[in-house]
Parts: sequence; C-alpha cells; structure tokens
Amino acid sequence: MFCGAGGFSEGARQAGFRVKWGIDKDDSSIETFLYNHHNATVYNMEIDEFMSKKIRDAFHVDVLLAAPPCQGFTGANTRGNIIDMTTNMILVMNIPQALDILRPKVLVFENVKGFFNQKKSDEIYKLFVNDLLDIGYKIKTKILKATDFGICQRRERFIMLAVPTESNFPCWPEPTHYINSEVSDQVRANYREMNLLPTPTVDVAFRGLTAATPNMNYIKTVPYHLRRLKSNQIPSTVLCTISPGWDNIHPTIFRYISPRESARLQSFSDTYEFKGNLASQYRQVGNSVPPLLAKAIIKEVKFEIVTLLLIPGWDNIHPTIFRYISPRESARLQSFSDTYEFKGNLASQYRQGNSNTITDVILRFLIDHDEIVEIVETMVKIVEQIKIRRFRINNSKL
Ligand SMILES: C[S@@+](CC[C@H](N)C(=O)[O-])C[C@H]1O[C@@H](n2cnc3c(N)ncnc32)[C@H](O)[C@@H]1O
Repeated sequence: MFCGAGGFSEGARQAGFRVKWGIDKDDSSIETFLYNHHNATVYNMEIDEFMSKKIRDAFHVDVLLAAPPCQGFTGANTRGNIIDMTTNMILVMNIPQALDILRPKVLVFENVKGFFNQKKSDEIYKLFVNDLLDIGYKIKTKILKATDFGICQRRERFIMLAVPTESNFPCWPEPTHYINSEVSDQVRANYREMNLLPTPTVDVAFRGLTAATPNMNYIKTVPYHLRRLKSNQIPSTVLCTISPGWDNIHPTIFRYISPRESARLQSFSDTYEFKGNLASQYRQVGNSVPPLLAKAIIKEVKFEIVTLLLIPGWDNIHPTIFRYISPRESARLQSFSDTYEFKGNLASQYRQGNSNTITDVILRFLIDHDEIVEIVETMVKIVEQIKIRRFRINNSKL
C-alpha cells in the first residue's frame, strides 16, 4: 500500500518474494512501479477508492507492505498546511482496515521516527495501534539505521511488524555494515571477522557514474545556505525528499546530484528505472524505502514465514481429514520418533516440534509455492543465516 516507485517492493523482490500488486495515486510513481515490477497488478487511484471498490479483488498476499506518506509525522516538518498533515495522518488508518480484510501473515510498516515519538502524532499512533490489536494482530517496533545495512545515508526509519496474535514475530535483521570512519582498529578487525562490510561513502556510492549529466542545473557557486556532499562521508538525510534546494550538491561538480546519483544513495541498482519528469523522479527516489533496508527486514520475514507453516491457523491442514494436523503428525514431519514426548499446552507443543529441524518445512514451503529452482539457493541462504546466528550467540556468550 502506498507503493510509490516501489523501493519497498524491490527489497521484497530481492528477499525472494513475488510482488503481487501496488496501490498509489501518483501516476509517475505507478509508471515506475509497473516498469520495474511488470508482473504486478497496479491500482492507480486514491486510497479511499481502493478501499471501497478494489481491495476485495486484490490478490491474497503473505506479506503486506505499507509505507504511507511521512509528511505530517516528520519532526523536520514544522511548516506546511495543517489540513494536509492531518489528512496524511488519517491515511494510515486505512492500513488496519486493509489488514483485517486481507489477513496477511505479516504487515511490514515503514515511516519516519516521528510517527511514534511526537506529541503531534501521539493520538493517531495510539488509534493505529489499538485498531491493529482489535483485529487480532500484535505489534513490535524498532528504529533501524540505513547505514547498518550498507546504505550511504544516515537515515533512521521507524519499522513496525504486525503478526496475528497466535504467530511468532520475525526477528529484526542484524547489521551487515559499519561506518568505517567511526570505529577503532580493534572494532574494525572484529567486524571484519564477523563478515561485516564498511558502508559505502559518497565517492564509493557514485563510483562508475559519468560526471556529465544532461538536463541538470549547473550552478556557479554553492549557495551560502547549502552544503556540498563530502566525497569520503555518509550524508545525513532527515527529510523525506532529496530534491534540488536541499543539501545535495555534488561533491566535486557544481550541480545538484542527479536522480541516478540520488538513487544510488538510496541503494537502488542502476537497472531500476524512474519514469516521469525530473522533479517527480527526485520525489520518487527520496520518498522510497531504501531497497537494501527493506530487503534486510523482509529476509527475516521470509525466514519466519517458512517456520510458520507448521503452526495451526496456516497451511497445515490434514491431507484427507478436515482438521489441522496434530502435534504428533507435525512431529513426524519433523522426523521425531513417536517415543519423543512433548509437554505443555497444544500451542506450545506445535511450536516445540518446530524447533528441531526445518528442512522438511523448507522443502514443503518451496514445493507448495512451485519454486523448485530456488530450493538450493534458499536452503544455502537459510543455512548461512543459522550459522551467522549461532556465531553471534556464541560470541555474545564469550
Ligand atoms: C512514502 S511514499 C511511498 C514510498 C514507497 N513505498 C517506496 O518504497 O518507494 C508515500 C506514497 O503515498 C502516496 N499517496 C499519498 N497520498 C495518497 C492517497 N490519498 N492515496 C493513494 N496514495 C497516496 C504518494 O503518492 C507516495 O507515493
């Protein structure tokens, strides 16, 4: 929902999901979304119209992504039309409603930090959370730093995960990157040992792009109130937009950065094309959830959904009898012998059986979803994740 140019969806695609549909009212954003996710269905309309006329026709989704407009919640937004701000705040209330209709396994919600920690949005936040709880979802929230995931930007985002009350939450992603200039030699050596990588600085992010860019406004001097990006640093971006007039002047050339350079700072690959005029392209890029941040979160979501398959309420209905499989049947699928007893209540027994081996579940998940070609790749990734987790747990015990 509020798919914009599709940065969030691109992260989901890179994490291994199929993008089914997107809804947004902005024509150019929808053009970009469709160009880059050409198998998706698009709803180019106001959210109110989608909610009243189209949502019940939309394909089932396992994961619902929602990134409503941040204007109104951003701490930086002290000016602006109060009616616009309130309207944007009210837009978020469509999300619990959509969740109740679609009942996905996970909602991933993204916004600015101010969404939950500001007086002006306090009431909306409470209403939003209460609606989610009322429809039988539970939530967890976290502020994630874009730099922790290899994005050349000091952007912090508010992320909320909502799952049905009886389900487990996906884990938060562990950082994969660190800021090289901010750590000691000892810490750097430890991070390297853990296979963490330095977050790219501006010069690294812009590497390989030609300096000459048609249609760009060249300037003679840097206006006194603006700053240039610094080649060897990671820029801070506190606003929802990267557009001419902000601090985004090229580090070595007298012009604003191009939409492609801006897209590099947001971790889009160069194959991701933006449609519409220059101003719209800047807006689409700046408004996007950085794909690499989205990918990191949604990889964890995928990991959890794989294990969710053996929890009642989901896809584990007996092949010939109209009931869920029993904990014993579930244990058999997990290769436990019948002499192995599980204690605790029913829900707990299902969950315990889940913890021993996930190979069967992974295979079932992949075969059910007709993604045979991905089997090997996904299993390797999952085994890698398990190894990394074990490594971290062992390290934290030291
Ligand atoms: C933060 S952006 C979404 C970014 C997108 N998720 C991404 O990662 O690229 C918010 C989007 O909400 C859309 N929007 C704002 N008001 C809307 C409304 N009333 N109905 C539908 N879409 C709306 C805007 O056009 C914008 O693309």
